[in-house]
Parts: sequence; C-alpha cells; structure tokens
Amino acid sequence: MKRTQLSQRGPNFSRMVYGTWRLLDTEPNPQEVNRRLHACLELGITTIDTAEIYGLYEVERMLGAALALSPGLRDRIEIVTKAGIYVPYPQCPERHTAHYDASGPRLIRSLEQSLSLLGTDHVDLFLVHRPDWLTRADDTAAGLNELLRTGKIREAGASNFSVSQFDLLSTHMEKPLVTNQIEFHLLHPEPIEDGTLHQCEKLGVPPMAWSPLAGGRIFDPTNPAANRLAVAAKSMSSRYDGATLEQLAYAWILAHPARPLPVIGTNNPERLRSAARSEAIAMEREDWYALWEAAQGRKIP
Ligand SMILES: NC(=O)c1ccc[n+]([C@@H]2O[C@H](COP(=O)([O-])OP(=O)(O)OC[C@H]3O[C@@H](n4cnc5c(N)ncnc54)[C@H](OP(=O)(O)O)[C@@H]3O)[C@@H](O)[C@H]2O)c1
Repeated sequence: MKRTQLSQRGPNFSRMVYGTWRLLDTEPNPQEVNRRLHACLELGITTIDTAEIYGLYEVERMLGAALALSPGLRDRIEIVTKAGIYVPYPQCPERHTAHYDASGPRLIRSLEQSLSLLGTDHVDLFLVHRPDWLTRADDTAAGLNELLRTGKIREAGASNFSVSQFDLLSTHMEKPLVTNQIEFHLLHPEPIEDGTLHQCEKLGVPPMAWSPLAGGRIFDPTNPAANRLAVAAKSMSSRYDGATLEQLAYAWILAHPARPLPVIGTNNPERLRSAARSEAIAMEREDWYALWEAAQGRKIP
C-alpha cells in the first residue's frame, strides 16, 4: 500500500484509510476490533478514521478498548477523529435537538473526551466534522490553534466544507488545514465540478473521500445507475485482472488528480482485503470516463 503525505509537514497516511462509522453494526467485542486493526496493518492500511459521534458516541470507546489489548499498537497507526455534531441520545437527556457546534471551547472539550476514550495523548488529525452555521470561523480556528499548540492534535482539517467555508477557516489558522474530508464517489461526483477538488489540488491538500461505495448503494439492484455501473465494470474487468465493481469504484476515486484517500467502510474482512488490492489498479483514462458516463446515464458534455 502506497502512502500519501497530506502536507509538506505531514501527516503521512496510508493511501487508503479504514473508516469506523459502521464499526458497531455487527456488535463486535474489543478482541474482534483488535483483530480488525491488525488486519488493516497487514494490508498496509495504517490510518483509522473515526469521530466522536460514531456509534452514538460509542465507537471511540470501543477503539480505545481494542487498542489497549495490544501495547504499542497505538503507535503503529494514525488516528483521525472529528467533532462538532451533537444529536439527542439516551445518555444525554438534556439535549433535545440535533445541532452543530464548532465553537473553539466545544471542540477542545470534545477532543479531550476523544483522547480519554481512545486512551491516547494525541490524535494525528482532528477534523471539524461539519460546518457550524452559527460559529464564526475565528472562534473555530482559536480552538484548533490551541489544540495544535498543545500537541493534542498533530494536524487539523475540515470535513464537508464548501470551498468558501474551507477558505474562510484557513485564513484564521496558524498551521494550514491538511484535508477536507468530503463525500466523493461514482454516485456523487459533484466535488469534481463544484470547485472542492480544485481547491484541494491548488492547496496541495489531498481530500479524504467518504462512502467510496456510496454506502453500498452502488450494489443496489433497484438503482438504475448501479445497474449501469455493473455492466460497465464487467466490460472492463478483464483489463484489470478481473477487478470487481467495488475495486474499480475505489480505483476511480484514486485516479483523480487531487489524490483523494478513500475511506473504506466495510465490516467484512474479505471485502477489506479486496479493497486494499484496488490501490494497485492504474485506471485508463477511457475507462474512468466510461464509469462516469455509466453512473450519470449520459454522455460527457
Ligand atoms: N466525514 C463525514 O461526514 C463522513 C460521512 C460518512 C462516512 N464517513 C467515513 O467514511 C467511512 C466509509 O463510509 P461508508 O461506510 O458509507 O463506506 P462505503 O464503503 O461506501 O459503504 C460501506 C457499506 O457498503 C457495504 N458494502 C461494501 N461492499 C459491498 C458489496 N460488495 N456488496 C454489498 N454491500 C457492500 C458495506 O457492508 P459490509 O460491511 O457488509 O461490507 C457497508 O454497509 C466511514 O466509516 C467513516 O469513517 C465520513
């Protein structure tokens, strides 16, 4: 597995990242999650993406328990976490309405809670999970800058930020933001044209691409785009050593010049291995456009 430097300073991440949003869907115990982390390492996937909200605020605790089973494992991986989304849940009866909060003090409090749950003194990258419409960018940046100064976060970034939101937050940062984690896949190619990927390319900041398989929708037989993609993938598979639709979907993301890092979401160990193999696929230009056309159901303009 190749590696990617997110900025000249770092961090240095595996080209594909393992995402933990769905980690608790199969109700694993810490031993199983520990085995999953080791399986990632064996595939060269050293970067683990999480967030305080995942599993209704329980995934980080599970990751911390899994890491504690193998002393030294924490130092072999890079941890990305995020904060800023607050939804009602049983352990927090005073919260009634889902909301965003990216104010500096709130981000600091959340990150400190994440460190405690994960059992670590720092994360390698901390992202503002979503833009908060009620917080000034200088307030958000003050929290991030403070966390950077203390070393509790090695780098800071954003997630789901528009070009102007990323630009605005950047103007207040003491160290440049190193990524924008965005939805980017065959069924959501908008970042190609809306300026998001252009901004990443211009700043030399590789984006992270979430839901690279559209959350599983590229396999949905009731979805016409998924069916067209299945046909297109079958027609080109032999040119890529029998690659599957999912491998071609990852390769399609990896081929974009902004150098996106797909964040893999499967809980299935065989699919994880298959995903890692897609990193070696060098997709031909015509096949890349053929997949775009199949997903869109129209010719390129
Ligand atoms: N920043 C953000 O706002 C944001 C938002 C969403 C996600 N994320 C990050 O991105 C990561 C990945 O997101 P995601 O889980 O939506 O990724 P995804 O890879 O697009 O979707 C994973 C889903 O697809 C299913 N799947 C995979 N291969 C399949 C196949 N061959 N046939 C049928 N179903 C298949 C998986 O089921 P199995 O488990 O059974 O394989 C799983 O339910 C998350 O874990 C999280 O870290 C970030």
